[in-house]
Amino acid sequence: MSNGHLRPVVELRGLTRSFEQGGVRIDVLRGVNLEVMPGEIVALLGPSGSGKSTLLQAVGLLEGGFGGEILIAGNSAEKSNANARTELRRDHLGFVYQFHHLLPDFDAKENVVLPQLVAGKPRREADARAEELLTALGLGHRLDHRPSQLSGGEQQRVAVARGLANRPDLVLADEPTGNLDEATSDRVLEQFLALVRGEGSAALVATHNERLAARMDRVVRLHEGVLE
Ligand SMILES: Nc1ncnc2c1ncn2[C@@H]1O[C@H](COP(=O)(O)OP(=O)(O)O)[C@@H](O)[C@H]1O
Ligand SMILES: [Mg+2]
Repeated sequence: MSNGHLRPVVELRGLTRSFEQGGVRIDVLRGVNLEVMPGEIVALLGPSGSGKSTLLQAVGLLEGGFGGEILIAGNSAEKSNANARTELRRDHLGFVYQFHHLLPDFDAKENVVLPQLVAGKPRREADARAEELLTALGLGHRLDHRPSQLSGGEQQRVAVARGLANRPDLVLADEPTGNLDEATSDRVLEQFLALVRGEGSAALVATHNERLAARMDRVVRLHEGVLE
C-alpha cells in the first residue's frame, strides 16, 4: 500500500457474537461491519443491552468467541497468536471504562505512569507524560491524590489520562462518563474529546446518550446486532 496513513485503525468485517443464557442462544452481534480511520471519533450508540460493550471487548482483543474478522492497523487478530494480540493491544489501543478501575493504593500520577512503565517507557518520560495529561485535564493540583480523595469526575479524568498515556492510535471508551451526573458528564466528555482531538487519536465511544453522541465526528447505531 503506498499510503499507509489512510489505513483504518480498526476494521470489523462480519463480526458476530452469541451467548447462551439459560439454555437459549442469543445472537448479540450479527455481522457488524465498521471502519474507523486515523483521528476519527466515532460514537457507538445503542440502548442498554444492544451489545456495545460486547463490540468494544471484541475490538479490545481481550476475549475470544467472536466470528468474523477484526483488523487492528491492518493486522488480523485471528491470525495473531496470544503474544501478538497483546502487542497489538499495547501498540495501538487505549481503554477508558465506565467505572474508572483505578488502582486504589496509587495516586493519580502513579495510575497514569504505571501503564507506561509496563510498555517499557523510562520513568522520567512516563512522569512527564502523566503530568502533561493530568494538567491538560485540569488535575495538575491533584497529582498525588489517591482515587478515594478525588470526586467521581476527577477519577474519570484520571482514567482518561491513563487511557491516553501510551499514545494509542485508537481509544476504546465504554460509556466513559456513564456514572457521572449530567453536568459533570458533559464537562468530562468535552475534555476527553478535546484531548483525543489534540493528540490526533481515533476513538470509538460507546454511549446510550444521543446528545453526547452528537458531539462526535460520526455516529453509528447498533440495532438488532448490526450497525446502521
Ligand atoms: N458474558 C456474557 N454471557 C451471557 N450474556 C452476555 C454476556 N455479555 C453480554 N451478554 C448479553 O449480551 C447482550 C448485550 O450486552 P452488552 O454488550 O453488555 O450491551 P450494552 O453494552 O449495549 O449494554 C445483553 O443481552 C447481555 O445480557
Ligand atoms: Mg455496556
